[in-house]
Amino acid sequence: MSRTKITREFFNQVSQKWDNVQLIKLGNMLSAIFNKNINGLFTKEKLTVLDFGAGTLTTCIPLVLNNDRIEKLYAVDISEKMLEKGKKKLEDLKNTEFSDRFELKAIDLTTETEFPEKVDVVVSSMAFHHLKEPKKMLKVLKSLLKENGCIMFVDYTLTETSYYFHPAQLREEVHAGFETEKVLEWLKELDGQKHSCETFFHFEKPNNVENEPQVIEFDLFLALAKF
Ligand SMILES: C[S@@+](CC[C@H](N)C(=O)[O-])C[C@H]1O[C@@H](n2cnc3c(N)ncnc32)[C@H](O)[C@@H]1O
Repeated sequence: MSRTKITREFFNQVSQKWDNVQLIKLGNMLSAIFNKNINGLFTKEKLTVLDFGAGTLTTCIPLVLNNDRIEKLYAVDISEKMLEKGKKKLEDLKNTEFSDRFELKAIDLTTETEFPEKVDVVVSSMAFHHLKEPKKMLKVLKSLLKENGCIMFVDYTLTETSYYFHPAQLREEVHAGFETEKVLEWLKELDGQKHSCETFFHFEKPNNVENEPQVIEFDLFLALAKF
């Protein structure tokens, strides 16, 4: 079975119990980080955004609710069930100015490159480690950007224990994390005006599984390329 198929099936299965308090808090934190960078990098009045691997929209809903300049956000994911769960959350926004700012797309950008329009910003949180060829995806995402656009994504830094953070059935199908130096090299190759990759968050989680580290450490980095 291909990695995409395994990943889609996994997220389709876990979608109903996906959101928890910690993930909601994380989504709020990441949306604030994305918005701070978006506001610092763009002077344009109106922006279009693509959230790659948007899942249940935990990050992109607060992103849009807290940034009036985002007039359209495309939430892209290969798992239709994760997006369906996100769609239910959008029902709370019915009859508000925000409801028609979201468009959900269950597509696989590794094989489908047709997209309704080019966007100013691509954001992504915790999706790149699921990709077989993350560097290739950066090129695809760059091709979907308008001139002077920007890609920003958050994911796990490779640590000695980050492998154990991932669900056992997916461990052989994901990158345990990425070295920030490596990500920086990918960004450089995109040939933008600016790029950076910095760790900004550290977390430790107790683990009581036998023969595994008793504490799992993970760090998150923010990678950014502005064109
Ligand atoms: C760990 S979840 C993160 C969801 C969301 N970004 C968040 O922060 O809550 C990873 C998401 O990436 C999606 N994903 C994995 N591979 C993908 C691909 N090739 N194209 C689009 N989405 C993908 C999964 O279906 C899943 O919803």
